[in-house]
Amino acid sequence: MSSSTPTYRIAPSILSADFARLGEEVKNVLAAGADWIHFDVMDNHYVPNLTFGPMVCQALKKHAVKPDGTPAPIDVHLMVQPVDALAQAFCKAGADIVTFHPDASTHVDRTLQLIKAEGCQAGLVFNPHMPVDVLEWVIDKVDVVLLMSVNPGFGGQSFIDSTLKKAEKVRRIIDASGRDIRLEIDGGVKTDNIRRIADAGADTFVAGSAIFNTPDYKAVIDAMRAELARGA
Ligand code: DX5
Ligand code: ZN
Repeated sequence: MSSSTPTYRIAPSILSADFARLGEEVKNVLAAGADWIHFDVMDNHYVPNLTFGPMVCQALKKHAVKPDGTPAPIDVHLMVQPVDALAQAFCKAGADIVTFHPDASTHVDRTLQLIKAEGCQAGLVFNPHMPVDVLEWVIDKVDVVLLMSVNPGFGGQSFIDSTLKKAEKVRRIIDASGRDIRLEIDGGVKTDNIRRIADAGADTFVAGSAIFNTPDYKAVIDAMRAELARGA
């Protein structure tokens, strides 16, 4: 862990929201205290599921506003192959952060450059089995490292524990870089494991089913923040 207390971010994944009421769901979860909106893009090619594209992101942009009137960052997680054209399209559609899987891009450095040239923050996503070695060569262009703690494609799966060891390793890499890089964890994050995940060095937490599959989003987000505050 870095010596200073991190500013934690909670990023609900709207993959588990009611797709028939997405705008309202985004507003409600931000009213409940969410920091970012996590937007899972699946293409039925890189992952065996299909979700939404840039037009849905653009439509949700006006709903992604916090109760104090400030815009909430839209965190687009691309599970698509190829990456480049869609990454650019999402930047133009209002994404603030665009992350992609390096194994889905032929030229990872180029894809990072494309995203940053569009004015978005850029990030790399690592599946549970993937090494993180590529970070050594592109860390100067990375704003977010997203570690998958489930195999991508579906919400509601169980957290894979080896992610904790990987998070510790990435935390060391980030701290050594001296750069302001977020370490985000995605998959199976719940109130009862968020503290352990933070202890491993994460500062940003995606949670889909843990939030949207309950009636009271605020109660879950408050409980997660209480866990993060405990012993931090
Ligand atoms: C999985 C997605 C996740 C997913 C998380 O491919 O990237 O963002 O929605 O859902 P939970 O929190 O239910 O594991
Ligand atoms: Zn995701």
